[in-house]
Amino acid sequence: MELPQMPELMGLSLLLGLLALVATAAVARGWLRAEEETNGRSAGQKANGCPPDKSLKSKKQKLQQRIRKEKPQQHNFTHRLLAAALKSHSGNITCMDFSSNGKYLATCADDRTVRIWSTKDFLQREHRSMRANVELDHAILVRFSPDCRAFIVWLANGDTLRIFKMMKRDDGGYAFTATPEDFPKKHKAPIVNIGIADTGKFIMTASSDTTILIWNLKGQVLSTINTNHMNNTYAAISPCSRFVASCGFTPDVKVWEVCFGKKGDFQDVVRAFELKGHSAAVHFFAFSNDSRRMASVSKDGTWKLWDTDVEYKKQQDPYLLRTGRFEEASTVPCRLALSPDAQVLALASGSSIHLYNTRRGEKEECFEQVHGECVSDLSFDITGRLLASCGDRAVRLFHNTPGYRAVVEEMQALLKRASNESTRQRLQQQLTQAQEALKNLGALKK
Ligand SMILES: *[C@@H]1O[C@H](CO)[C@@H](O)[C@H](O)[C@H]1NC(C)=O
Ligand SMILES: *[C@@H]1O[C@H](CO)[C@@H](O)[C@H](O)[C@H]1NC(C)=O
Ligand SMILES: *[C@@H]1O[C@H](CO)[C@@H](O)[C@H](O)[C@H]1NC(C)=O
Repeated sequence: MELPQMPELMGLSLLLGLLALVATAAVARGWLRAEEETNGRSAGQKANGCPPDKSLKSKKQKLQQRIRKEKPQQHNFTHRLLAAALKSHSGNITCMDFSSNGKYLATCADDRTVRIWSTKDFLQREHRSMRANVELDHAILVRFSPDCRAFIVWLANGDTLRIFKMMKRDDGGYAFTATPEDFPKKHKAPIVNIGIADTGKFIMTASSDTTILIWNLKGQVLSTINTNHMNNTYAAISPCSRFVASCGFTPDVKVWEVCFGKKGDFQDVVRAFELKGHSAAVHFFAFSNDSRRMASVSKDGTWKLWDTDVEYKKQQDPYLLRTGRFEEASTVPCRLALSPDAQVLALASGSSIHLYNTRRGEKEECFEQVHGECVSDLSFDITGRLLASCGDRAVRLFHNTPGYRAVVEEMQALLKRASNESTRQRLQQQLTQAQEALKNLGALKK
Protein backbone atom coordinates (compact mmCIF):
# COMPACT_ATOMS: atom_id res chain seq x y z
CA MET A 1 0.00 0.00 0.00
CA GLU A 2 1.33 3.40 -0.86
CA LEU A 3 1.17 6.31 1.49
CA PRO A 4 -0.37 9.44 0.04
CA GLN A 5 2.06 12.09 -1.11
CA MET A 6 2.73 14.94 1.23
CA PRO A 7 1.02 17.72 -0.80
CA GLU A 8 -2.10 15.58 -1.14
CA LEU A 9 -2.24 15.04 2.61
CA MET A 10 -1.85 18.73 3.24
CA GLY A 11 -4.55 19.47 0.74
CA LEU A 12 -6.88 17.03 2.43
CA SER A 13 -6.34 18.36 5.93
CA LEU A 14 -6.71 21.91 4.69
CA LEU A 15 -10.00 20.95 3.09
CA LEU A 16 -11.20 19.22 6.25
CA GLY A 17 -10.18 22.22 8.32
CA LEU A 18 -12.05 24.54 6.02
CA LEU A 19 -15.15 22.38 6.12
CA ALA A 20 -15.06 22.35 9.92
CA LEU A 21 -14.72 26.13 9.97
CA VAL A 22 -17.61 26.60 7.59
CA ALA A 23 -19.77 24.23 9.64
CA THR A 24 -18.84 26.03 12.87
CA ALA A 25 -19.62 29.39 11.34
CA ALA A 26 -22.98 28.15 10.13
CA VAL A 27 -23.90 26.79 13.55
CA ALA A 28 -22.68 29.90 15.29
CA ARG A 29 -24.60 32.16 12.97
CA GLY A 30 -27.82 30.19 13.32
CA TRP A 31 -27.49 30.28 17.07
CA LEU A 32 -26.71 33.96 17.10
CA ARG A 33 -29.73 34.78 14.99
CA ALA A 34 -31.99 32.73 17.23
CA GLU A 35 -30.53 34.50 20.26
CA GLU A 36 -31.14 37.96 18.81
CA GLU A 37 -34.69 36.99 18.03
CA THR A 38 -35.35 35.63 21.48
CA ASN A 39 -34.04 38.79 23.07
CA GLY A 40 -37.16 40.72 22.30
CA ARG A 41 -39.55 37.91 23.10
CA SER A 42 -40.63 35.86 26.09
CA ALA A 43 -37.77 34.02 27.74
CA GLY A 44 -38.10 30.29 27.95
CA GLN A 45 -39.07 30.09 24.29
CA LYS A 46 -36.59 27.70 22.76
CA ALA A 47 -34.43 28.84 19.84
CA ASN A 48 -35.06 26.73 16.77
CA GLY A 49 -34.25 23.34 18.25
CA CYS A 50 -30.49 23.33 17.52
CA PRO A 51 -28.72 22.35 20.75
CA PRO A 52 -25.20 23.82 20.89
CA ASP A 53 -22.46 21.21 20.36
CA LYS A 54 -20.23 21.27 23.47
CA SER A 55 -17.02 20.21 21.69
CA LEU A 56 -17.29 23.27 19.48
CA LYS A 57 -18.00 25.63 22.29
CA SER A 58 -14.79 27.66 22.76
CA LYS A 59 -14.15 27.91 19.04
CA LYS A 60 -17.70 28.96 18.59
CA GLN A 61 -17.49 31.64 21.22
CA LYS A 62 -14.50 33.16 19.47
CA LEU A 63 -16.24 33.02 16.14
CA GLN A 64 -19.36 34.44 17.67
CA GLN A 65 -17.45 37.40 19.05
CA ARG A 66 -16.05 38.02 15.60
CA ILE A 67 -19.47 37.79 13.98
CA ARG A 68 -20.90 40.10 16.60
CA LYS A 69 -18.42 42.80 15.67
CA GLU A 70 -19.13 42.49 11.97
CA LYS A 71 -22.62 43.48 10.92
CA PRO A 72 -24.65 40.62 9.50
CA GLN A 73 -23.66 40.29 5.87
CA GLN A 74 -25.70 42.21 3.33
CA HIS A 75 -25.54 41.50 -0.37
CA ASN A 76 -23.64 44.30 -2.07
CA PHE A 77 -25.18 45.88 -5.13
CA THR A 78 -24.59 49.17 -6.88
CA HIS A 79 -26.00 50.56 -10.11
CA ARG A 80 -26.37 54.03 -11.56
CA LEU A 81 -30.16 53.59 -11.65
CA LEU A 82 -30.42 52.33 -8.07
CA ALA A 83 -32.51 54.96 -6.27
CA ALA A 84 -32.42 53.47 -2.77
CA ALA A 85 -32.03 50.31 -0.71
CA LEU A 86 -34.41 49.86 2.23
CA LYS A 87 -32.62 48.00 5.01
CA SER A 88 -34.19 47.19 8.38
CA HIS A 89 -35.33 43.62 8.12
CA SER A 90 -33.05 41.04 9.67
CA GLY A 91 -34.53 38.21 7.62
CA ASN A 92 -35.27 37.62 3.95
CA ILE A 93 -38.14 39.65 2.52
CA THR A 94 -40.70 37.52 0.70
CA CYS A 95 -43.40 40.00 -0.32
CA MET A 96 -44.14 43.73 -0.76
CA ASP A 97 -47.23 45.81 -1.37
CA PHE A 98 -47.73 49.51 -2.16
CA SER A 99 -50.82 51.04 -0.58
CA SER A 100 -53.37 52.30 -3.10
CA ASN A 101 -52.95 55.91 -1.88
CA GLY A 102 -49.26 55.61 -2.76
CA LYS A 103 -48.05 56.65 0.69
CA TYR A 104 -46.76 53.36 2.04
CA LEU A 105 -44.90 50.21 1.16
CA ALA A 106 -45.45 47.11 3.30
CA THR A 107 -42.84 44.36 3.43
CA CYS A 108 -42.80 41.05 5.28
CA ALA A 109 -39.85 38.84 6.13
CA ASP A 110 -38.98 35.66 7.99
CA ASP A 111 -37.76 37.83 10.91
CA ARG A 112 -41.36 37.77 12.25
CA THR A 113 -42.05 41.37 11.32
CA VAL A 114 -44.02 43.37 8.81
CA ARG A 115 -42.56 46.79 8.11
CA ILE A 116 -44.43 49.82 6.81
CA TRP A 117 -42.24 52.32 4.93
CA SER A 118 -43.15 55.84 4.00
CA THR A 119 -42.69 56.28 0.24
CA LYS A 120 -41.93 59.98 0.60
CA ASP A 121 -38.61 59.07 2.29
CA PHE A 122 -37.50 56.88 -0.59
CA LEU A 123 -35.16 59.40 -2.17
CA GLN A 124 -33.87 60.69 1.18
CA ARG A 125 -30.81 59.35 2.97
CA GLU A 126 -32.74 57.79 5.83
CA HIS A 127 -35.51 55.27 5.38
CA ARG A 128 -37.57 54.88 8.49
CA SER A 129 -40.09 52.12 8.90
CA MET A 130 -42.72 51.11 11.44
CA ARG A 131 -42.67 47.56 12.71
CA ALA A 132 -45.57 45.21 13.29
CA ASN A 133 -44.72 41.96 15.06
CA VAL A 134 -46.22 38.69 13.90
CA GLU A 135 -46.47 36.76 17.16
CA LEU A 136 -45.18 33.17 17.16
CA ASP A 137 -45.13 33.01 13.37
CA HIS A 138 -44.04 34.99 10.33
CA ALA A 139 -45.83 36.39 7.32
CA ILE A 140 -44.93 35.25 3.79
CA LEU A 141 -47.42 37.48 1.96
CA VAL A 142 -48.76 40.94 2.82
CA ARG A 143 -51.44 43.20 1.24
CA PHE A 144 -52.85 46.58 2.26
CA SER A 145 -56.58 47.04 2.61
CA PRO A 146 -57.89 49.65 0.13
CA ASP A 147 -58.50 52.25 2.88
CA CYS A 148 -54.94 51.75 4.24
CA ARG A 149 -56.29 51.17 7.73
CA ALA A 150 -55.48 47.47 7.77
CA PHE A 151 -53.33 44.86 6.09
CA ILE A 152 -53.68 41.13 5.63
CA VAL A 153 -50.89 38.57 5.89
CA TRP A 154 -50.50 34.88 5.16
CA LEU A 155 -48.96 33.06 8.13
CA ALA A 156 -46.11 30.67 7.29
CA ASN A 157 -46.75 28.23 10.13
CA GLY A 158 -50.40 28.97 10.84
CA ASP A 159 -51.08 28.42 7.13
CA THR A 160 -53.95 30.87 7.16
CA LEU A 161 -54.85 34.53 6.86
CA ARG A 162 -54.58 37.15 9.61
CA ILE A 163 -55.88 40.72 9.55
CA PHE A 164 -53.95 43.53 11.24
CA LYS A 165 -55.63 46.85 12.01
CA MET A 166 -53.52 49.99 11.73
CA MET A 167 -54.49 52.62 14.30
CA LYS A 168 -53.02 56.08 14.13
CA ARG A 169 -51.52 57.11 17.47
CA ASP A 170 -51.42 60.62 18.88
CA ASP A 171 -47.70 60.90 18.14
CA GLY A 172 -48.36 60.32 14.43
CA GLY A 173 -47.11 56.73 14.47
CA TYR A 174 -49.25 53.64 14.14
CA ALA A 175 -50.31 50.87 16.49
CA PHE A 176 -50.79 47.48 14.84
CA THR A 177 -53.17 44.96 16.31
CA ALA A 178 -54.12 41.56 14.96
CA THR A 179 -57.84 40.85 14.93
CA PRO A 180 -58.68 38.16 17.51
CA GLU A 181 -59.55 35.40 15.05
CA ASP A 182 -57.45 34.21 12.12
CA PHE A 183 -59.34 32.91 9.09
CA PRO A 184 -60.24 29.21 9.21
CA LYS A 185 -57.71 26.88 7.61
CA LYS A 186 -59.04 25.78 4.23
CA HIS A 187 -56.19 25.31 1.76
CA LYS A 188 -54.62 21.88 1.32
CA ALA A 189 -51.53 22.98 -0.66
CA PRO A 190 -48.95 25.77 -0.24
CA ILE A 191 -50.26 29.28 -0.85
CA VAL A 192 -49.25 31.15 -4.03
CA ASN A 193 -50.90 34.53 -3.51
CA ILE A 194 -53.48 36.51 -1.57
CA GLY A 195 -55.32 39.72 -2.45
CA ILE A 196 -57.96 42.10 -1.22
CA ALA A 197 -60.30 43.79 -3.69
CA ASP A 198 -59.97 47.55 -4.04
CA THR A 199 -63.71 47.81 -3.42
CA GLY A 200 -63.14 46.11 -0.05
CA LYS A 201 -65.79 43.53 -0.93
CA PHE A 202 -63.73 40.34 -0.98
CA ILE A 203 -60.43 38.63 -0.28
CA MET A 204 -58.80 36.07 -2.55
CA THR A 205 -56.42 33.27 -1.59
CA ALA A 206 -54.89 30.82 -4.07
CA SER A 207 -52.90 27.65 -3.44
CA SER A 208 -50.57 25.57 -5.60
CA ASP A 209 -53.16 22.88 -6.20
CA THR A 210 -56.01 24.18 -8.40
CA THR A 211 -57.92 26.05 -5.69
CA ILE A 212 -58.80 29.74 -5.41
CA LEU A 213 -61.03 30.82 -2.54
CA ILE A 214 -63.13 33.99 -2.50
CA TRP A 215 -63.87 35.18 1.07
CA ASN A 216 -65.79 37.99 2.65
CA LEU A 217 -63.87 40.14 5.12
CA LYS A 218 -65.27 38.19 8.05
CA GLY A 219 -63.51 35.02 6.96
CA GLN A 220 -66.43 33.19 5.38
CA VAL A 221 -65.86 31.46 2.04
CA LEU A 222 -68.14 32.92 -0.64
CA SER A 223 -66.92 30.76 -3.50
CA THR A 224 -64.39 28.08 -4.42
CA ILE A 225 -62.85 28.17 -7.88
CA ASN A 226 -61.23 25.15 -9.48
CA THR A 227 -58.80 26.59 -12.03
CA ASN A 228 -58.06 23.28 -13.79
CA HIS A 229 -54.47 24.38 -14.34
CA MET A 230 -53.12 21.08 -12.83
CA ASN A 231 -51.16 23.39 -10.50
CA ASN A 232 -51.56 27.12 -9.89
CA THR A 233 -48.39 29.20 -10.03
CA TYR A 234 -50.03 32.61 -9.52
CA ALA A 235 -53.41 34.30 -9.11
CA ALA A 236 -54.43 37.91 -8.54
CA ILE A 237 -57.35 40.34 -8.33
CA SER A 238 -57.54 43.00 -11.05
CA PRO A 239 -57.07 46.62 -9.86
CA CYS A 240 -60.70 47.34 -10.87
CA SER A 241 -61.79 44.54 -8.46
CA ARG A 242 -64.03 43.01 -11.08
CA PHE A 243 -61.81 40.06 -12.00
CA VAL A 244 -59.74 37.28 -10.50
CA ALA A 245 -57.18 35.68 -12.80
CA SER A 246 -54.92 32.64 -12.52
CA CYS A 247 -52.14 30.81 -14.33
CA GLY A 248 -50.27 27.56 -13.85
CA PHE A 249 -49.22 24.39 -15.59
CA THR A 250 -51.57 24.90 -18.57
CA PRO A 251 -50.63 27.41 -21.34
CA ASP A 252 -53.49 29.86 -20.66
CA VAL A 253 -54.37 32.61 -18.19
CA LYS A 254 -57.96 32.26 -16.97
CA VAL A 255 -60.02 35.23 -15.89
CA TRP A 256 -63.21 35.14 -13.79
CA GLU A 257 -65.65 37.88 -12.89
CA VAL A 258 -66.62 38.12 -9.23
CA CYS A 259 -70.21 39.41 -9.35
CA PHE A 260 -72.00 41.42 -6.66
CA GLY A 261 -75.60 42.64 -6.64
CA LYS A 262 -76.70 46.29 -6.52
CA LYS A 263 -76.78 46.18 -2.73
CA GLY A 264 -73.25 44.83 -2.55
CA ASP A 265 -74.34 41.26 -1.84
CA PHE A 266 -72.17 38.51 -3.34
CA GLN A 267 -73.79 36.70 -6.25
CA ASP A 268 -71.51 34.46 -8.23
CA VAL A 269 -68.14 33.85 -9.85
CA VAL A 270 -68.38 33.38 -13.63
CA ARG A 271 -65.84 32.63 -16.35
CA ALA A 272 -65.02 35.86 -18.21
CA PHE A 273 -62.22 35.33 -20.75
CA GLU A 274 -58.84 33.68 -21.31
CA LEU A 275 -55.46 34.71 -22.60
CA LYS A 276 -54.62 32.07 -25.19
CA GLY A 277 -51.45 32.02 -27.24
CA HIS A 278 -48.63 30.68 -25.11
CA SER A 279 -47.49 27.15 -25.91
CA ALA A 280 -46.29 26.12 -22.43
CA ALA A 281 -46.99 26.73 -18.73
CA VAL A 282 -47.49 30.36 -17.69
CA HIS A 283 -45.24 31.43 -14.80
CA PHE A 284 -46.77 34.78 -13.99
CA PHE A 285 -49.01 37.61 -15.21
CA ALA A 286 -49.92 41.18 -14.23
CA PHE A 287 -52.53 43.88 -14.87
CA SER A 288 -52.03 47.53 -15.76
CA ASN A 289 -53.56 49.87 -13.15
CA ASP A 290 -56.72 50.46 -15.21
CA SER A 291 -57.13 46.68 -15.78
CA ARG A 292 -57.24 47.24 -19.57
CA ARG A 293 -53.89 45.58 -20.27
CA MET A 294 -52.36 42.35 -19.06
CA ALA A 295 -48.90 40.86 -19.48
CA SER A 296 -47.82 37.25 -19.13
CA VAL A 297 -44.56 35.28 -19.18
CA SER A 298 -44.34 31.61 -20.08
CA LYS A 299 -42.06 28.60 -20.09
CA ASP A 300 -42.28 28.83 -23.91
CA GLY A 301 -39.58 31.54 -23.61
CA THR A 302 -41.80 34.54 -24.42
CA TRP A 303 -43.70 37.35 -22.73
CA LYS A 304 -46.93 38.73 -24.15
CA LEU A 305 -48.87 41.98 -23.76
CA TRP A 306 -52.65 41.81 -24.13
CA ASP A 307 -55.48 44.28 -24.64
CA THR A 308 -58.15 42.99 -22.25
CA ASP A 309 -60.50 45.94 -22.68
CA VAL A 310 -63.06 43.75 -24.42
CA GLU A 311 -66.74 42.99 -24.15
CA TYR A 312 -66.37 39.39 -23.19
CA LYS A 313 -70.12 39.04 -22.76
CA LYS A 314 -70.35 39.57 -26.52
CA GLN A 315 -67.76 36.82 -27.04
CA GLN A 316 -64.95 39.27 -27.75
CA ASP A 317 -61.51 37.81 -27.02
CA PRO A 318 -58.55 39.80 -25.69
CA TYR A 319 -56.17 41.05 -28.40
CA LEU A 320 -52.52 40.08 -28.40
CA LEU A 321 -50.59 43.36 -28.74
CA ARG A 322 -46.97 42.23 -28.54
CA THR A 323 -44.79 39.14 -28.05
CA GLY A 324 -41.18 39.40 -26.86
CA ARG A 325 -38.47 36.80 -26.34
CA PHE A 326 -37.29 35.98 -22.84
CA GLU A 327 -35.18 32.82 -23.09
CA GLU A 328 -34.58 32.58 -19.32
CA ALA A 329 -38.28 31.79 -18.88
CA SER A 330 -37.85 28.40 -20.57
CA THR A 331 -35.50 27.14 -17.87
CA VAL A 332 -36.36 28.95 -14.61
CA PRO A 333 -39.53 30.30 -13.01
CA CYS A 334 -39.93 34.03 -13.69
CA ARG A 335 -41.81 36.91 -12.12
CA LEU A 336 -43.19 39.90 -13.93
CA ALA A 337 -44.38 43.42 -13.13
CA LEU A 338 -46.19 45.77 -15.48
CA SER A 339 -45.86 49.53 -15.01
CA PRO A 340 -49.19 51.24 -14.17
CA ASP A 341 -49.42 52.68 -17.71
CA ALA A 342 -48.41 49.32 -19.30
CA GLN A 343 -45.46 50.95 -21.10
CA VAL A 344 -42.77 48.99 -19.27
CA LEU A 345 -42.46 45.33 -18.40
CA ALA A 346 -40.06 44.14 -15.69
CA LEU A 347 -39.05 40.48 -15.77
CA ALA A 348 -37.09 38.76 -13.03
CA SER A 349 -35.30 35.43 -13.34
CA GLY A 350 -32.97 34.27 -10.60
CA SER A 351 -31.50 37.42 -9.09
CA SER A 352 -31.58 39.48 -12.32
CA ILE A 353 -34.15 41.98 -13.56
CA HIS A 354 -34.77 43.02 -17.18
CA LEU A 355 -36.83 46.02 -18.32
CA TYR A 356 -38.63 45.97 -21.66
CA ASN A 357 -40.41 48.69 -23.56
CA THR A 358 -43.78 47.13 -24.42
CA ARG A 359 -44.43 49.34 -27.42
CA ARG A 360 -41.45 48.07 -29.40
CA GLY A 361 -40.67 44.96 -27.36
CA GLU A 362 -37.04 46.01 -26.86
CA LYS A 363 -34.96 45.37 -23.76
CA GLU A 364 -33.78 48.71 -22.35
CA GLU A 365 -32.17 47.95 -19.00
CA CYS A 366 -30.74 44.93 -17.24
CA PHE A 367 -29.76 44.66 -13.56
CA GLU A 368 -27.67 41.59 -12.65
CA GLN A 369 -27.33 39.97 -9.21
CA VAL A 370 -29.60 42.49 -7.59
CA HIS A 371 -30.14 40.31 -4.50
CA GLY A 372 -28.32 37.62 -2.55
CA GLU A 373 -31.18 35.23 -3.35
CA CYS A 374 -33.70 34.88 -6.18
CA VAL A 375 -36.01 37.87 -6.63
CA SER A 376 -39.01 37.04 -4.45
CA ASP A 377 -41.20 40.00 -5.41
CA LEU A 378 -41.22 42.78 -7.99
CA SER A 379 -43.50 45.83 -8.21
CA PHE A 380 -43.74 49.33 -9.67
CA ASP A 381 -44.83 52.11 -7.33
CA ILE A 382 -48.16 53.72 -8.16
CA THR A 383 -46.56 56.63 -10.05
CA GLY A 384 -44.55 54.19 -12.20
CA ARG A 385 -41.37 56.17 -11.56
CA LEU A 386 -39.77 53.48 -9.40
CA LEU A 387 -39.46 49.72 -9.59
CA ALA A 388 -39.06 47.87 -6.28
CA SER A 389 -37.59 44.40 -5.87
CA CYS A 390 -36.76 42.12 -2.94
CA GLY A 391 -34.89 38.84 -2.57
CA ASP A 392 -32.73 39.20 0.52
CA ARG A 393 -32.94 41.51 3.55
CA ALA A 394 -33.20 44.70 1.47
CA VAL A 395 -35.73 46.22 -0.89
CA ARG A 396 -33.97 47.81 -3.87
CA LEU A 397 -35.61 50.68 -5.76
CA PHE A 398 -34.72 51.53 -9.34
CA HIS A 399 -35.46 54.58 -11.46
CA ASN A 400 -37.76 53.49 -14.28
CA THR A 401 -35.86 55.11 -17.17
CA PRO A 402 -37.73 53.14 -19.88
CA GLY A 403 -40.92 54.64 -18.39
CA TYR A 404 -39.58 58.21 -18.77
CA ARG A 405 -38.46 57.47 -22.33
CA ALA A 406 -41.93 56.15 -23.14
CA VAL A 407 -43.46 59.38 -21.81
CA VAL A 408 -41.07 61.46 -23.96
CA GLU A 409 -42.05 59.49 -27.04
CA GLU A 410 -45.74 59.69 -26.31
CA MET A 411 -45.70 63.45 -25.59
CA GLN A 412 -43.72 64.19 -28.75
CA ALA A 413 -46.32 62.31 -30.81
CA LEU A 414 -49.24 64.02 -29.03
CA LEU A 415 -47.67 67.48 -29.43
CA LYS A 416 -47.67 67.09 -33.21
CA ARG A 417 -51.42 66.57 -33.09
CA ALA A 418 -52.31 69.10 -30.37
CA SER A 419 -54.87 71.52 -31.71
CA ASN A 420 -54.86 74.32 -29.14
CA GLU A 421 -52.43 76.21 -26.94
CA SER A 422 -53.59 74.93 -23.52
CA THR A 423 -53.20 71.28 -24.55
CA ARG A 424 -49.85 72.09 -26.11
CA GLN A 425 -48.65 73.68 -22.88
CA ARG A 426 -49.74 70.74 -20.75
CA LEU A 427 -48.04 68.22 -23.02
CA GLN A 428 -44.91 70.34 -23.23
CA GLN A 429 -44.74 70.45 -19.45
CA GLN A 430 -44.97 66.66 -19.14
CA LEU A 431 -42.38 66.28 -21.89
CA THR A 432 -39.96 68.64 -20.15
CA GLN A 433 -40.40 66.87 -16.80
CA ALA A 434 -39.59 63.46 -18.29
CA GLN A 435 -36.59 64.86 -20.19
CA GLU A 436 -35.31 66.56 -17.04
CA ALA A 437 -35.61 63.31 -15.08
CA LEU A 438 -33.68 61.42 -17.74
CA LYS A 439 -31.03 64.13 -17.89
CA ASN A 440 -30.53 64.00 -14.12
CA LEU A 441 -30.12 60.24 -14.32
CA GLY A 442 -27.60 60.57 -17.13
CA ALA A 443 -29.89 58.51 -19.31
CA LEU A 444 -31.20 60.97 -21.89
CA LYS A 445 -29.76 59.31 -24.99
CA LYS A 446 -30.47 55.65 -25.57
C1 LIG B 1 -49.57 20.50 -7.35
O1 LIG B 1 -50.84 20.17 -6.79
C2 LIG B 1 -50.85 19.09 -5.88
C3 LIG B 1 -52.27 18.85 -5.44
O2 LIG B 1 -53.13 18.84 -6.54
C4 LIG B 1 -49.99 19.42 -4.69
O3 LIG B 1 -49.95 18.35 -3.79
C5 LIG B 1 -48.57 19.75 -5.17
O4 LIG B 1 -47.81 20.19 -4.08
C6 LIG B 1 -48.60 20.83 -6.23
N1 LIG B 1 -47.27 21.02 -6.80
C7 LIG B 1 -46.55 22.12 -6.61
C8 LIG B 1 -45.25 22.17 -7.32
O5 LIG B 1 -46.91 23.03 -5.92
C1 LIG C 1 -52.62 54.75 -13.60
O1 LIG C 1 -51.32 55.30 -13.38
C2 LIG C 1 -51.10 56.54 -14.03
C3 LIG C 1 -49.68 56.94 -13.75
O2 LIG C 1 -48.80 56.11 -14.40
C4 LIG C 1 -52.09 57.57 -13.52
O3 LIG C 1 -51.92 58.80 -14.22
C5 LIG C 1 -53.52 57.06 -13.68
O4 LIG C 1 -54.40 57.96 -13.09
C6 LIG C 1 -53.68 55.69 -13.04
N1 LIG C 1 -54.99 55.17 -13.33
C7 LIG C 1 -55.72 54.53 -12.42
C8 LIG C 1 -57.04 54.02 -12.89
O5 LIG C 1 -55.36 54.39 -11.27
C1 LIG D 1 -58.15 71.74 -26.75
O1 LIG D 1 -58.12 70.51 -27.45
C2 LIG D 1 -58.48 69.34 -26.72
C3 LIG D 1 -58.31 68.14 -27.63
O2 LIG D 1 -57.09 68.19 -28.27
C4 LIG D 1 -59.91 69.48 -26.20
O3 LIG D 1 -60.25 68.36 -25.41
C5 LIG D 1 -60.03 70.74 -25.39
O4 LIG D 1 -61.37 70.93 -25.00
C6 LIG D 1 -59.56 71.96 -26.19
N1 LIG D 1 -59.54 73.11 -25.31
C7 LIG D 1 -59.96 74.34 -25.73
C8 LIG D 1 -59.86 75.42 -24.72
O5 LIG D 1 -60.38 74.49 -26.82
